[in-house]
Amino acid sequence: MGNLWVDLAMAKSQARFACQQCGAVAPKWAGRCEACGAWNSMVEEVQRAAPPKSLGTSGGKRGDRLGFVALRGETAGPPRRLTGIAELDRVCGGGLVPGSTILVGGDPGIGKSTLLLQAAASLAALGAASAYITGEEAIDQVRLRAERLGVADAPVRLAAASSVRDIINSLDDGNAPDLVVIDSIQTMYLDTLDSAPGTVSQVRGAAQELIALAKRRGIVAVLVGHVTKEGLIAGPRVLEHMVDTVLYFEGERGHQFRILRAVKNRFGATDEIGVFEMSDRGLVEVPNPSALFLADRASPDGDAGDGRTGGAAVFAGIEGTRPVLVEVQALVAPSLLGTPRRAVVGWDATRLAMIMAVLDARCGLSVGANDIYLNIAGGLRIVEPAADLAVAAALVSALTETPVPVETVVFGEIGLSGRVRPVAHADARLKEAAKLGFAEAWVPVRPSRSTKAGTNEGLATVAIGHLSELVARLSPAPRRPVEAPRVAAGSRRVMVSP
Ligand code: TYD
Ligand code: MG
Repeated sequence: MGNLWVDLAMAKSQARFACQQCGAVAPKWAGRCEACGAWNSMVEEVQRAAPPKSLGTSGGKRGDRLGFVALRGETAGPPRRLTGIAELDRVCGGGLVPGSTILVGGDPGIGKSTLLLQAAASLAALGAASAYITGEEAIDQVRLRAERLGVADAPVRLAAASSVRDIINSLDDGNAPDLVVIDSIQTMYLDTLDSAPGTVSQVRGAAQELIALAKRRGIVAVLVGHVTKEGLIAGPRVLEHMVDTVLYFEGERGHQFRILRAVKNRFGATDEIGVFEMSDRGLVEVPNPSALFLADRASPDGDAGDGRTGGAAVFAGIEGTRPVLVEVQALVAPSLLGTPRRAVVGWDATRLAMIMAVLDARCGLSVGANDIYLNIAGGLRIVEPAADLAVAAALVSALTETPVPVETVVFGEIGLSGRVRPVAHADARLKEAAKLGFAEAWVPVRPSRSTKAGTNEGLATVAIGHLSELVARLSPAPRRPVEAPRVAAGSRRVMVSP
């Protein structure tokens, strides 16, 4: 009798609906997830009956006692396995750690399969055993790609499979490879679960089994994960906390550049990026991204007056441990609409709004009534607040039609008061700029204890303490020719206070 009640209650509690976007679970279906607000994302998932039992009531069985140890002890640093693709190794923190799991996310078609096939082949060529398991493509497709990449002779074990049970059965022995690529985790299927492949519980369950296999056998497991429209790895956050390392592979469709970015790494720094260029023979490493991102600029020794009317500034940024110089481009045009357009590529639109507000409130420079287009050249996405000053320079320069001197780099964070605040790694930024032949840097005022200003050969630093100093530098020269008033200039609302 009593047992019947328990069974009935359990059967009832088993029906559950999981949001495929955020993983939230609800007892009833709903058109919209209450947790994340996604529409049409609730899918019924049948749970295995696993009645939670309180430890106190489970028949008096005692657990084992934990053997506590001291924090300090004999530990060899994680042994690293180099893939031979330096950009990939660096993003992973200096090589792959055996027994760890790496999730590689990215839009479809961005080049995940290409990169990982190259990595598997490169590792195999260095003498390690690597396996590539595809659940998305046929063997022939992968072979064709390998042919194109020129790696068809590398001793990579290739299989097309999507059953996790089969995969584990094939790899869980003394002959396990050093690296296994699972392309993709969304196609993997665990037959102990009733839900369809790609659902949250399948993705989570399959990943759990593969992670356990990697730990047990000391394999580096690389899971490919597709990103949804919203930019989450589908089946999403649930995977990010389970794996050791999360890498995103990103890039603009029209651009050749691909950027591999670490967003989580238990064995190294995050924010590190690897830069690749997609060629007809696969992904090629780009060891010096600054030169690439500035490639189509007027050369520093060329003349600035070749039709340039302003609107560009070179930002000296830091990506992970590496300085990267990129060009920030701005276009300001009188708006024909009631609500001016703001189009931002590669930078945060909210931060742009903030900079415009500061320009307006603290410098008397009204930008608001114009359409504004802001672009980071080359397809890089910048998240550093240190780019504030470069963005402001590009904006003001576009507005006043006064070019930023062509051999100048700019960096600094802007506070709401208009004060320009110092940023980290100033020396590394200046060094890179000097290396690339820049002559001048517009930088924040240094904190008094650091007095190394101007130590980089050939690079003069100009301290900008307040945003209005930048505006003053980029104001049209006072003796501007007055003949031939420009048509467009009349409709601009440029108010530059001295
Ligand atoms: P792919 O690795 O299949 O992307 P993902 O696995 O992330 O979905 O990359 C496919 C794209 O890369 C495709 O648009 C063609 C392009 N590509 C090249 O330009 N050169 C190459 O050598 C290869 C193999 C692919
Ligand atoms: Mg693919």
